[in-house]
Amino acid sequence: MTFWHFFFKNTRKKLLPQEIENIEPKETLLIKNSNDLNNIYITINKEINLYELEELCDSVGWVRRPIKKVKTALDNSFVTVCLLEKQKQRNLLIGFARATSDHSFNATIWDVVIHPNFQSKGLGKALMNELIKELRYKDISTITLFADPQVLNFYRTLGFMSDPDGVKGMFWYPL
Ligand SMILES: CC(C)(COP(=O)(O)OP(=O)(O)OC[C@H]1O[C@@H](n2cnc3c(N)ncnc32)[C@H](O)[C@@H]1OP(=O)(O)O)[C@@H](O)C(=O)NCCC(=O)NCCS
Repeated sequence: MTFWHFFFKNTRKKLLPQEIENIEPKETLLIKNSNDLNNIYITINKEINLYELEELCDSVGWVRRPIKKVKTALDNSFVTVCLLEKQKQRNLLIGFARATSDHSFNATIWDVVIHPNFQSKGLGKALMNELIKELRYKDISTITLFADPQVLNFYRTLGFMSDPDGVKGMFWYPL
């Protein structure tokens, strides 16, 4: 698979430490019942049902990963964002993204996904904007990600740029 290394340089005002501390995990109503959607909530939350996440990743055709390793990856993530559709019986996980970080300067975004039934409704953009906002609250200045070639424009519309100043992402894989 080809990846592109994308960078997002944060130029907005820095937040004070007390402002950062005040930001608690929360669940926010993103979309109230509309014609084709039930209530959609966005939440910053590490309490994720791993099997629901696996189903979501299956729905876009991603190769399955060992669930124990996924759990470790989530436990060690800096920020995770979920989109939930509130149904009568349960909440359905319809979107997900997470970021790892050095907790100081840099963060890298992984596993950005919206369920196919909910794509092209602006939810991917909302998910990413929430993640970027949260990283910004935590005073992260450089945000990177690896984009599949078919979604380059999705990330460009969010302000990401490829190869800034000619800097290239490089990979090492075991033979
Ligand atoms: C990529 C993905 C997260 C986008 O989510 P989405 O909810 O469909 O996107 P949105 O409706 O919020 O679109 C936001 C903008 O990006 C554009 N966009 C969305 N998907 C795009 C795509 N595949 N290619 C190019 N542009 C795209 C939209 O046209 C829209 O532009 P606008 O703001 O000018 O109207 C979703 O299609 C997905 O989960 N794909 C499968 C998994 C995947 O490829 N993840 C990324 C791995 S790097």
